Amino acid sequence: MTETKRVAVVTGGASGIGAACCRRLAKSGVDVAIWDLNEELMAEVAEDVRALGQRAITSKVDVSDRAVVKAAVAKARAELGPVTIMVNSAGVHATGAITKMTDDEWNRVININLNGSFIVTQEVLDDMIAENWGRIVYISSSSTQTGSPNMAHYVASKGGVIGLTKALAVELGPKGITVNNVPPGSVDTPMLRNLEAKGGLPGGAEAIGLRNPVQRLGTPEDMAAAVAFLVSEEAGYITGHTLSANGGRYMN
Ligand SMILES: NC(=O)c1ccc[n+]([C@@H]2O[C@H](COP(=O)([O-])OP(=O)(O)OC[C@H]3O[C@@H](n4cnc5c(N)ncnc54)[C@H](O)[C@@H]3O)[C@@H](O)[C@H]2O)c1
Repeated sequence: MTETKRVAVVTGGASGIGAACCRRLAKSGVDVAIWDLNEELMAEVAEDVRALGQRAITSKVDVSDRAVVKAAVAKARAELGPVTIMVNSAGVHATGAITKMTDDEWNRVININLNGSFIVTQEVLDDMIAENWGRIVYISSSSTQTGSPNMAHYVASKGGVIGLTKALAVELGPKGITVNNVPPGSVDTPMLRNLEAKGGLPGGAEAIGLRNPVQRLGTPEDMAAAVAFLVSEEAGYITGHTLSANGGRYMN
């Protein structure tokens, strides 16, 4: 059986988990439209996708800017074809005590992590509805499953993403579209290392990894493997699911 050639949009595709998803999807034969703010890193990931034999384009996109997202969808469709897979990995992390958090800090995180997920989803849906087939995967966070101190905006934004997953799974299921999320625990990416550098991981990142049952940090490739499964043809009966690829940190 020949698998249908698919086109994916991967937001946050320049770095960390998003970049690993671009490479992993390319290995599955998927063409990739890479969206991010970092053009230099996106170009490198695009080269990797092409070296794996698939087509890649890049677009400088702020996921919270609807006009820019709309234009990037049109470009992806024109250059690669109908977009039927969307992986939303773009996100920002921030810390701050609830007693001191400003409206601006709260709104910035919610705007990118949650509003961005809403905007990107809405703008990519047309082709999925037309094809009666689609796969949406959000990268959420285990911090919203366990609760986590001093990052109320971040945890709330990712909780919203899990809510979005469930709401859209019900709404879009009849249209052949599955909607799932992967909540990472501690994954070795620039985001985690920045937090470590700011003193946000007491004892260091590796010590956090050792507390997991599998006793190591996650790799971006661990997350990409979970995402690749969820967007595959054979995962069509899984929707509204939170796939906790986290080394056993939290068991749902
Ligand atoms: N690394 C972890 O341990 C961890 C844990 C839980 C959740 N996450 C989530 O995983 C996702 C990927 O994070 P990562 O660890 O790979 O971090 P990362 O910093 O390596 O990658 C995030 C990417 O998102 C991009 N980005 C940020 N704001 C954007 C915007 N407004 N528009 C478009 N792109 C934007 C950045 O430029 C960057 O390339 C994030 O949503 C993050 O919240 C990561």
